[in-house]
Amino acid sequence: MSLFAAAARSLSIEDPIEKCRETRRWVAAWRAQGAQVEPLEQRSNPGLTDRPGRLDRPLLVSPNDVPKRKITGAPEGRRALLHAIAHIELNAVNLALDVAARYWDVPMPDAFHREWIGVADDEAKHFLLLHDRLTALGGAYGELPAHNGLWESAIATKGDILARLAVVPMVLEARGLDVTPMMIDKFTHVGDLETVAALEIIYEDEIGHVAVGRRWFEHVADARGLERETTWHELVRTYFHGQVKRPFNKPARSEAGMHPEYYEPLADWYEGIDL
Ligand SMILES: [Fe+2]
Ligand SMILES: [Fe+2]
Repeated sequence: MSLFAAAARSLSIEDPIEKCRETRRWVAAWRAQGAQVEPLEQRSNPGLTDRPGRLDRPLLVSPNDVPKRKITGAPEGRRALLHAIAHIELNAVNLALDVAARYWDVPMPDAFHREWIGVADDEAKHFLLLHDRLTALGGAYGELPAHNGLWESAIATKGDILARLAVVPMVLEARGLDVTPMMIDKFTHVGDLETVAALEIIYEDEIGHVAVGRRWFEHVADARGLERETTWHELVRTYFHGQVKRPFNKPARSEAGMHPEYYEPLADWYEGIDL
């Protein structure tokens, strides 16, 4: 099967566990066969929908209505946080599959599609890791409300590969680098070392995802003859409706090649306006 069709099919799977396991299965098979990407002239439209398959739970609500989570020795707060992160990872599976397949007719090096399929595989692994932790603590994915902000960013930027790369990996995934060390500290503090181990795997992988996004953003910006940082600022202000805010995890961002000239001016700009 075509890589693009396989990504579209994974996107359409409703059950989250099945989506992640099936994605991991075909990515492994595809890699074992040499991770081929069909030449542009042999591709056909994979027919992506704007609504990936999902079960009717979790209920999607506004971000303010997502339950708050305080991390304590009792499992409730940890379950709520794990539920929220698992939801982010499931969205990340869809986002990576979508970016790998959505721009099937844009001339890009094969490595673009190959790397995003690799990201989708990582995200599926992340969801399954967190799902294991959630069920070990007596929780279940779907039992708490969640919000749809990540997917809405994908749809808002679907018409332009550069906008998609500016917002999803370089704002949203980079934000994950800022907050994950604090979560690791909290889970360490309550002695939940299994969750710490899962979050440490995720954190390392996510540095790589931001690097993939940043590299392809720069590739496309350069190809269009655009100045990287100012173009990024404009695209984020246009398409991202949250805030790019401090504190930043500078070492992790730098490891991903996202230097402060990207994000510091934008944080200044967000701090200077009334949202
Ligand atoms: Fe992830
Ligand atoms: Fe990621």
